[in-house]
Amino acid sequence: RETLEFKFTEENKRRVKALLVWYPEAEWKGALIPLLDIAQRQQGWLSISAVKAVADVIKIDPMKAYEAAQFYTMFFMKPRGKYVIRVCTSTPCKLRGGDDIYALCETILKLKHGETSPDMQFTLKDDYCLGACVNAPVLSVNDDFYEDLDEKSVKQILEDLK
Ligand code: FES
Repeated sequence: RETLEFKFTEENKRRVKALLVWYPEAEWKGALIPLLDIAQRQQGWLSISAVKAVADVIKIDPMKAYEAAQFYTMFFMKPRGKYVIRVCTSTPCKLRGGDDIYALCETILKLKHGETSPDMQFTLKDDYCLGACVNAPVLSVNDDFYEDLDEKSVKQILEDLK
């Protein structure tokens, strides 16, 4: 179902180049994850074509790159919403109501784990530790973190995105 071939923009080609200078050519595979991130930021998700473009740059087997991309929850292998909402449901957050926060997001957004709204505005995920446990419970919207959540703050965060 994929028709468009992925090509890095000129700006991202420069980013890729700037990144690769830090690696000896034999170690370019070490740049796989940051390169996949550049591709995802350009496209919003990672198509097979985008993963292949990355694999071509660092001269690795596209299948290996694809497997790595699938392994990390930060990568999306299909189109996703403009706002990706991750709610931490690992233990420290769970102990402070993380499950309720997640359930509230499900109700407000009418989405289940991994689903995207039909208008492509929201993707919802429950996720592992987001690295901000001291201020549990926590959720993130794209690159922004929201901590010490309660029902009121979650409603406000989601409302502000609409
Ligand atoms: Fe939720 Fe670490 S457990 S941020």
